[in-house]
Amino acid sequence: MRKNCTGFKVSLVVLYATSAYLNHVVGIQVTSTGPQTIKRSQGTDVTLSCTYSESPSDTGQLDVEWSIVSPDMTQKDNLILSYSGGKEYKLGDPNLMSRLKFVGNPSQGNATITISSVHESDTATYQCKVKKPPGVDSQKITLVILVCPSVPKCWVQNGEEIGGTVSLYCKSSQGSIPLTYKWIKENGALPSTAVQKPQTGELLIYNHSQSYTGNYVCTVNNEVGMEQCKYTLKAYNPVNKAGVIAGAVIGALLLLLLLLLLIWLLICCYQKKRYEKETANEIREDAAAPESRPGSRHSSFRSIMGYHPHQGVTYSSVRNSKPGRADSSIRNFNTNQSQVPSQGTLRYDSKYGFAV
Ligand SMILES: *[C@@H]1O[C@H](CO)[C@@H](O)[C@H](O)[C@H]1NC(C)=O
Ligand SMILES: *[C@@H]1O[C@H](CO)[C@@H](O)[C@H](O)[C@H]1NC(C)=O
Repeated sequence: MRKNCTGFKVSLVVLYATSAYLNHVVGIQVTSTGPQTIKRSQGTDVTLSCTYSESPSDTGQLDVEWSIVSPDMTQKDNLILSYSGGKEYKLGDPNLMSRLKFVGNPSQGNATITISSVHESDTATYQCKVKKPPGVDSQKITLVILVCPSVPKCWVQNGEEIGGTVSLYCKSSQGSIPLTYKWIKENGALPSTAVQKPQTGELLIYNHSQSYTGNYVCTVNNEVGMEQCKYTLKAYNPVNKAGVIAGAVIGALLLLLLLLLLIWLLICCYQKKRYEKETANEIREDAAAPESRPGSRHSSFRSIMGYHPHQGVTYSSVRNSKPGRADSSIRNFNTNQSQVPSQGTLRYDSKYGFAV
């Protein structure tokens, strides 16, 4: 069984070799030579070469086709560009087609194309096929678009304590893999206790000391580019844990005191306010009382009083509508007058600023 299989394979190879040989001799032939895989960075222009030589034995119509080879062998290739009957047809994805064009004359043995400002998504195997019946030949070129690493971030984790372990990190968020990281120390070698991991960008420094401080530079690179970042490493004395606890306790006590003070102030203010409010309410009630008696002598009295409301006159003078009380009140605010004014002799005295 196995022998049969091998024999079958051998005969297939022979058959293929014969047909290739025949093609070589009689038909149209792609002649361009170049790398089968092209790696480029994103944004650059890429040329995919395809030149051919015709054969006098081929008499049919010339057809040139560029297609994207499906990674799945069972699927049809995707025809993107063709030159047929002297005309060019763009059949692929519009985004790609707007950046893709023939650069030579496809009818004169040069079916080379360029793709401008390539995207990562242009990564594919492209096939150039030239047909001139009965001859036909083709060539494949794999295009790999690589993304340059982005500017990495450099940072430190777990502090920079003397005697402790410092973890320096370096990370690029973008870039085609594999990305390789390398830490160096500016003006000198890495500490003897340092260990770095090129795949992750980590640099561990054990038993950190003052002499390890300085600028550390991380370089990230891949096939198409490199970027750097820098971290200035410092060294701190280990924090005294007892000191921290003592500090926290004192801080908490101070905070408590402050709170108590605040509460005391609030209570104080509230009581004072309440007292003022009560007084103010009393005055307002008093002021409103005479309104209910328009035309009474008290209203006229009030109007005189209102002439100078800031003269220390208390409205309590009109608190009651009893005539006797009113008179006594008048007496009250005229303390510097020995004469007791009677209701009928009220007059304005500019010297005192109020009715006397
Ligand atoms: C095909 O055409 C391009 C653009 O004109 C040119 O640069 C290239 O050299 C040509 N190739 C050959 C083999 O003539
Ligand atoms: C850490 O470093 C100090 C001084 O640099 C040294 O005296 C000590 O032995 C080191 N400790 C360890 C565990 O290597």
